[in-house]
Amino acid sequence: MERLVINGGTALRGSVEINGAKNAAVAILPAAVVASKGKCVIDNIPDIEDVHCLERILRSLGCTVNKLDNNTLEVDSSDVTNFDACTDDVRRMRASYYFIGALLTRFKQAKVQLPGGCPIGVRPIDQHIKGFEALGAEVVIEHGSVILKADKLVGADIFFDVVSVGATINVMIAATLAEGITTLENVAKEPHVVDVANFLNTMGANIKGAGTDIIRIMGVKELKGCSYSVIPDQIEAGTFMIAAAATKGDVTITNVIPKHLESISAKLKEMGAIVEEGDDSIRVTVDKELKGVNIKTTPYPGFPTDVQQPMSALLSTVAGRSLITESIWENRHKHIDELKKMGSNIKVEGRVAIIDGVKKLTGAIVKATDLRAGAAMVIAGLVAEGETQITSIEHIDRGYPHIENKFSALGADIHRIKVQE
Ligand code: EPZ
Repeated sequence: MERLVINGGTALRGSVEINGAKNAAVAILPAAVVASKGKCVIDNIPDIEDVHCLERILRSLGCTVNKLDNNTLEVDSSDVTNFDACTDDVRRMRASYYFIGALLTRFKQAKVQLPGGCPIGVRPIDQHIKGFEALGAEVVIEHGSVILKADKLVGADIFFDVVSVGATINVMIAATLAEGITTLENVAKEPHVVDVANFLNTMGANIKGAGTDIIRIMGVKELKGCSYSVIPDQIEAGTFMIAAAATKGDVTITNVIPKHLESISAKLKEMGAIVEEGDDSIRVTVDKELKGVNIKTTPYPGFPTDVQQPMSALLSTVAGRSLITESIWENRHKHIDELKKMGSNIKVEGRVAIIDGVKKLTGAIVKATDLRAGAAMVIAGLVAEGETQITSIEHIDRGYPHIENKFSALGADIHRIKVQE
């Protein structure tokens, strides 16, 4: 097993380049299965465990996957005939559920193992299923797999009951080859939803309105290979912005789309940090004591749930009281017990974390209970006095590429060790 070891107390300084968006890449790779002709060359793919897992699933389906460099994959799905995605890798991660929409639209049938992912709450897929059924698929769940069959898929008007990133993307993928027009309402507007729509359109789909309240998809006959570059990762960027503020550093975060970071920038400014936007960069500096703020997570363009855990580490040492209300996931405060081991003064009442800032955190052995919890522990370790060891870092590796190298380059004392556990 591996751990991250951090000796805290260094203000981060310098510049860090953000990789491609995990939550876009993990949808784009399954969507590449829809291309029945030609190769997809996809650039700016983050070098993370979730992507490695998807590469294995793509190969198990019969795709040819070539790694052109660390961040570029070539996927050829033209010879795929297999619509059965039931491997341990499929169960291991959340985004494998995008194979349901992709295989269904291409083959009019699919069998996909129910997905895993971070333990942050109940993660139903009823809205995905509602969409597939509306398009004409018969859906059953048997022995832990979703099995879908349709004589043909026909466009439909679908109003989602909850705003879901996964359901929006999955049903959008499924509708690309359906006959006629599909209208999706009450959709997610996250940047990665737009990115997946752009990828599908580059393959020949006809999707309009992604990023707004209504997405319209005019079905086409087939999708073909294309070249595409994934957008920068909003959440990785937000994590480095928060780490810069937490260590009272001066960090320029490059390869970002500042517009995607507005809700995070606004909160950091409200706390007293200086956030300067460039065309494709953001600089975060701190020249005074920060003050507590209240945060409520909401779908985009609101404050992202995926950034609230890192934010709780920052707010732990900020004077005054802060409240974080998690409105998306019912169980995303599990990392708070770990922060408390480092001296944080936090109480959780239902979905609200009540944080009373303390003067300092102290290093401890703590666990990355999930992906973003891991990022929170890294930030806490960077500000804490003494040594922090983070266990279960496989969660962090699922979504943050080479995290210790990036923080080391900013001056942090952080490295990875192997231990017998
Ligand atoms: C995506 O998960 C992200 N994962 C999550 O990021 C992120 O937290 C989440 O969107 C919200 O932004 C990926 O993109 C792989 P949802 P997803 O469907 O799509 C309820 C990270 O840290 N819901 O938008 O699974 C659900 O219970 C990960 O990178 C239904 O009720 O999330 C939740 O309360 C963790 N029925 C809400 O909707 C459904 O069919 C939003 O979930 C689907 C969802």
